[in-house]
Amino acid sequence: MVESIRGEFNTISDGFVSVPFPLATLLPFTTYGKALKARKNVALALEEVIRKRMDEKLMDGGVEGRKENNRGKKDMVDLLLEAEGGSFFMERMVDICVNLLAAGYDTTSLTMTLAAKFLAETPTALAQLREEHDSIRKSKGENQLLEWSDYQSMAFTQCIINETLRVCNVVNGVMRRANTNIYYKDYIIPKGYKIYASFGAVHLNSEHYENARTFHPWRWQSKNNKDQDMRASSLFSPFGGGPRYCPGNELARGVISVFLHHFVTRFSWDAAEEDKIVSFPTTGILKGYPINLRLLSGSKNNQLTSLIICCIDIIINKGRWKLLTTSAARKQAGWDDQPSRSAGCSRSACKSAAHHPA
Ligand code: HEM
Repeated sequence: MVESIRGEFNTISDGFVSVPFPLATLLPFTTYGKALKARKNVALALEEVIRKRMDEKLMDGGVEGRKENNRGKKDMVDLLLEAEGGSFFMERMVDICVNLLAAGYDTTSLTMTLAAKFLAETPTALAQLREEHDSIRKSKGENQLLEWSDYQSMAFTQCIINETLRVCNVVNGVMRRANTNIYYKDYIIPKGYKIYASFGAVHLNSEHYENARTFHPWRWQSKNNKDQDMRASSLFSPFGGGPRYCPGNELARGVISVFLHHFVTRFSWDAAEEDKIVSFPTTGILKGYPINLRLLSGSKNNQLTSLIICCIDIIINKGRWKLLTTSAARKQAGWDDQPSRSAGCSRSACKSAAHHPA
């Protein structure tokens, strides 16, 4: 099911910045019309999941029964089914799931892909980031998982995330409607007018940021640097601001940090093709940034590595990343003896070269 609805999310995202024709459902060939149709498909697929879970719940004697018998912890659907004494209508549960998936999926994965691109183009930043994560890795056992204290020590990683979001606004801007006449300097925005507040116009303004168009993560480092203060100011707002401030911002930072940790400590990479960042109508990379990915010597092709490759390849880059290894690294990783699909990958649609070594 994931495969079948994944593409629909891109169509939904395109609809965020499109002309909302009043009769869009009758005009299914327009961007907005396509987005509405894609949303409907996603909603139907999620409804099926929720209904199945409701049936399971009835059979297992409720969510609590399932908790003990099955996965050992509750997920979002379990929580929605329990919310307010189980009184949520199906439509509301589906709506919450669609909104969270639409708002959280592409934003986070695109930021990861952009960070990979900027890092490949800025070797000094990559070296410093790798140093930060190697030292965390060294302080832990081989398969020991990251902990909260590790995350808190990833100071330069936060600089990379800030700078990626600043240089390339994953969400270009936000729409608002004036509830009242707004007076700003010599301008009046009349009540009822719709406004598009562009983040890029601020983040890439050289009055606010020195060499604004250059990827320079160190600008976030120095305490005395005025850019450092921007993280909490209206001059740096990749997650929006005010009452609609992104509730997923800390989750996104955490997920991207963990991804970067595994990515830079296990792999090196370079662009497989010329590619270009575009910012209209939405931010993206024209070809999805195909890369040649190499396992670093010393990294093991264990289950976690396989899983990471699978995630990077399929979720982040839509199955277009190509894994190359030197024969020594292949041998060390044990890939020459691998079956055609690695143990870590359970996706039948997996096209990862890592799991199908030539
Ligand atoms: C790098 C990743 C992300 C970026 C850049 C981002 C950016 C934003 C921005 C700019 C807004 C404000 C929209 C507005 O003011 O109209 C927003 C809202 C929102 N975001 Fe995120 N987001 C990210 C990740 C996530 C994640 C991981 C989730 C949840 C899983 C999430 C859930 C939401 C939701 C539900 C809203 C709507 C809040 C509301 O309207 O009250 N976001 N996000």
